[in-house]
Amino acid sequence: MQYENILVEIHGKVGLITLNRPAALNALNDKLMDELGLALQSFDGDDDIGCMIITGSEKAFAAGADIGAMATYTYMDVYKGDYITRNWEQIRSVRKPVIAAVAGYALGGGCELAMMCDFIIAADTAKFGQPEIKLGIIPGAGGTQRLPRAVSKAKAMDLCLTARMMDAAEAERAGLVSRVVAADKLHEEALAAATVIANMSLPMVMMVKESINRAYETTLAEGVQFERRLFHSTFATADQKEGMQAFIEKRAAHFKNS
Ligand code: CAA
Repeated sequence: MQYENILVEIHGKVGLITLNRPAALNALNDKLMDELGLALQSFDGDDDIGCMIITGSEKAFAAGADIGAMATYTYMDVYKGDYITRNWEQIRSVRKPVIAAVAGYALGGGCELAMMCDFIIAADTAKFGQPEIKLGIIPGAGGTQRLPRAVSKAKAMDLCLTARMMDAAEAERAGLVSRVVAADKLHEEALAAATVIANMSLPMVMMVKESINRAYETTLAEGVQFERRLFHSTFATADQKEGMQAFIEKRAAHFKNS
């Protein structure tokens, strides 16, 4: 499939998607988000892919939703047409892990897109922020909801109310990103992490993702019960037998994803 706003590559078992609107710092418009959703779904349905990465350029992961496209929208446009973010939640329906590899600006919708991924690896050049308030709007793709869950209410309020940017070191201290790496090593490190994941048992990878995400949607007791049911089900898989047998025989496991 030919895309106009993203680049798609396969590295071993990893699907790499690069946001590619350099002239607008990867500002996210409907077309780009449609293409991103299609590419993710295509990798999700591909048996040879075990993990995905979304990345941007050295200067910008994404500088937010496309302000030029939004500037003249009316309330009825955005309410009735569900403009701007209508296709964003597709990303959450992907069942294999998605890593955001962020260098440069991840602002507004760019920060929200990174937070929709399963974890964020940041270059030391990364800058995160929710500056929508400066435009006379508020975050519209989960910024006020996912950011406090990731970094605490205090820091989320600070970022969304003052519109200031947070650098990679602060984002790591706050828990928004899982690791910070040198900018020139970002793709190598993200690909290495994705390859490790892609070589695990795919059903186990999917269960980990499903179970951790459940933690954000339920009580602790219900979440633990959900995890226990999934844990029990792992004993019905060939990969559990292989993983434990490989440990006992002191060899590497060869998972069959079954
Ligand atoms: N939408 C559309 N175009 C954008 C853009 C955006 N979000 N961000 C940058 N651009 C464009 C600029 O207009 C500029 O285009 P031209 O060269 O044609 O003028 C080009 O990208 C380069 O940008 P700058 O010249 O501004 O680059 P800079 O290095 O001086 O500044 C920046 C970089 C600080 C990221 C600055 O571009 C900026 O503040 N961008 C807007 C960030 C923002 O407010 N994001 C939130 C958007 S709203 C949103 O996302 C809503 C939501 O929750 C879904």
